[in-house]
Amino acid sequence: MTLAQIGIIGGSGLYKMEALKDVESLELQTPFGAPSDAVILGTLVGTRVAFLARHGRNHTLLPTELPFPANIYAMKQLGVKYLISASAVGSLKAEAKPLDMVVPDQFIDRTKNRISTFFGEGIVAHIAFGEPICKNLAGVLADAIASLNLTDVTLHRGGTYVCMEGPAFSTKAESNLYRSWDATVIGMTNLPEAKLAREAEIAYATLALVTDYDCWHPDHDSVTVDMVIANLQRNAVNAQKVIEETVKRLSENPPVSDAHSALKYAILTNLGNAP
Ligand code: ADE
Repeated sequence: MTLAQIGIIGGSGLYKMEALKDVESLELQTPFGAPSDAVILGTLVGTRVAFLARHGRNHTLLPTELPFPANIYAMKQLGVKYLISASAVGSLKAEAKPLDMVVPDQFIDRTKNRISTFFGEGIVAHIAFGEPICKNLAGVLADAIASLNLTDVTLHRGGTYVCMEGPAFSTKAESNLYRSWDATVIGMTNLPEAKLAREAEIAYATLALVTDYDCWHPDHDSVTVDMVIANLQRNAVNAQKVIEETVKRLSENPPVSDAHSALKYAILTNLGNAP
């Protein structure tokens, strides 16, 4: 049963979608436990969407504690085919300034303690992940941002998102190392989500909302939670407009996505249907 084809995961500062109408709150269970919080079903510009606050509505879960498999499974259960993940990030490049929006196209994994697969326990699969973000969904998202001409916001199409374990922010040596790798932004959550979404054959794209310059920039203070929250509150209004415009475009013109058939050549285990 499809209750929503479009899912939204809201990160730090984006705990609620103000514009949702006819809201239903679903306390879901999955084989991987409960998601971070109730999934909120609601109508946005005429389309049913599913919204989940990644860290819980009261922000009670550390990045390491997030039930990533349950969150993605819950979206799949509802029929989600397109997942937009809004996330606060630090900038690793001077040109991506706080309040800017980045739509990354690559990830580097620096996590240590995450469950980022549904497979194992007798079923072996290796999904293709060379292009970890759905290009077509990312294109719709970036076009939506561009169409809004938001004041003080520069859009950056493409870029590499470093996903670190946290919860402490990076050291300067780490931050400079990631800069030497030409990475664009840093956050703590999107890579496991992207992997699990790909395994679930859900198209995934990140709306990265820049809140700080991490700790590498000589002219800016090192990142603090205060800084992240202050900028995200300013960003949250813009992020909601972007999500609304993206949902409108997706429902008018749902893009094809390779993610929707990601498992076709991924499973190695003989499940009894081998020729
Ligand atoms: N989220 C927001 N800013 C961040 C930073 N500098 N590092 C990691 N995660 C972040």
